Amino acid sequence: MENLSPKEEIERRRTFAIISHPDAGKTTITEKLIYIGGLIHEAGEVKGKAGTKAATSDWMTMEQERGISITSSVLQFDHGGKRVNLLDTPGHKDFSEDTYRTLVAADSALMLIDVAKGVEERTKKLYEVCNYRKVPIFTFINKCDREGKVPLELLDEIENTLKMKCYPVNWPLGLGGLFRGVYNRLDKKVYLYNKETGEQTIIPIDDFDDPRWKEWIHHDIFDSVMEEIQLIEMDAEEFDHEAFQKGEVSPAFWGSAKLNFGVDQFLRYFTEWAPGPGPRKTLQGEVDPIKDKFSGFIFKIQANMDRKHRDRMAFIRICSGHFTRGMKVRHCRLDREIRLSHSAQFLAQDRETVEDAFAGDIVGVSDPGLFRIGDSVAMGKKIEFEKIPQFSPELFTRLFVSDAMKRQKLQKAISELSEEGVIQLFIDPHIGAQDPIVGVVGELQFEVLKYRLQDEYNLEVRLDRAPYTVAKWPRDKDGKEVSEISGVTTVFRDKEERPVVLLGSEWDLNWLIKENEGVHFGSPFDDGMKQWM
Ligand code: G4P
Repeated sequence: MENLSPKEEIERRRTFAIISHPDAGKTTITEKLIYIGGLIHEAGEVKGKAGTKAATSDWMTMEQERGISITSSVLQFDHGGKRVNLLDTPGHKDFSEDTYRTLVAADSALMLIDVAKGVEERTKKLYEVCNYRKVPIFTFINKCDREGKVPLELLDEIENTLKMKCYPVNWPLGLGGLFRGVYNRLDKKVYLYNKETGEQTIIPIDDFDDPRWKEWIHHDIFDSVMEEIQLIEMDAEEFDHEAFQKGEVSPAFWGSAKLNFGVDQFLRYFTEWAPGPGPRKTLQGEVDPIKDKFSGFIFKIQANMDRKHRDRMAFIRICSGHFTRGMKVRHCRLDREIRLSHSAQFLAQDRETVEDAFAGDIVGVSDPGLFRIGDSVAMGKKIEFEKIPQFSPELFTRLFVSDAMKRQKLQKAISELSEEGVIQLFIDPHIGAQDPIVGVVGELQFEVLKYRLQDEYNLEVRLDRAPYTVAKWPRDKDGKEVSEISGVTTVFRDKEERPVVLLGSEWDLNWLIKENEGVHFGSPFDDGMKQWM
């Protein structure tokens, strides 16, 4: 792949993220994908559960201890002539905001479904985010080596729950103890799994009356499996690429991540069908990935990724053009030129200096405190990508350090962590920034906060819960901020200096709405996505 032009480089980028409910097998399939992609040489190098070897994509100590994936990293490998960027998303619902930001940076998604559990709550929520952005989705029905739901019924469940059509690319020859492999209806081949060796045999077949089917499917389920296969074959519709690109049809694959079975089939069609970087909306019009010069937006900020460096990295999703290390670009919010230095890509603890990157890629640049999530950078003219929405927190606390000398340090620490998007800060204008209220979406974020304050800043803090559950941003009918609200003693300010009211309950909110006619109490989040939380 030497000497490709920037256009060719951009055209071969495929950037995606995996969405799934915890335990559906995201870590396992990630491991198999990067193994097939040649990024690791031994399947088993990656494992991310408590007490076992750390996943290559899970690098924070706390993640390893808790066996959860909190922060996202990017895995890059080549396959089928494409350069694949796999964005790792945290599975736990308390980190949904981080997941949302990551999905904004992806061009397609792989939805992982546990064959026994079907569409679980978290999958549904994440699907809604993809659907909102019309992101094309692949479906992988995992754990076919275990007993599961009746395949046709499961497919119906996915289609009806998510209101999205599925196009089965392959079909399982039995499940659980009777699992023998899959039939791929597109290449008309049977892929058989050998339980003893773990290897697969691939046999072309174009006749349903062929006696060999009887060898491949257990006699107890032979009739029903053949009936299912013929039923899906009768649905003679060709795979509709256009509908897939709009997120209306999802190619579905059956397999087992643990057995590394079917993952290669998914990857093959993924590299064929997944969209490359497309045009992105900005306030100044659409940006074309190939025609336009370098532009991108920050979707993630992470401090202290590497103990040796103790620095802060801002992750840019490149939306157009060609990035080169040390290039000068416009920081569009600050409206000034900056140099993007120390660019790196990450694989777990390992960082590699990046000299070149192209639209579709994610690149981490060293951030001396200049960036916020959602910031745009571009060569030449000013470009502002659509804002990345922020969620309304539901849990609130004040922080205390026993050592008064450390107050200032705490203030600096939480300000830094809020810039990373780990927490949101609400400032009482009468008191000032030294004693802010900290808001989060999920309980586990408080644990991460405490842990990171201790681990990275050497600050032992006590959390004193504040009696709020609702944060609302008051605006008048023209969308202008409103600072005078009757019925509350304090109107707080968020980090953008916008007025916010913090309330104890929905009941308080309803009362406030009645008291303040003409004021809309909204969230900073897109209206259409409110229901996602
Ligand atoms: P997650 O990242 O989505 O949370 O899931 P993860 O990959 O950690 O998988 C959750 C559990 O499901 C793991 O079991 C994993 O081995 C198992 N698993 C994943 N894919 C398959 C599959 O295709 N078939 C079967 N049978 N199991 C699968 P565990 O008990 O937590 O860990 P381990 O003891 O298996 O390592």
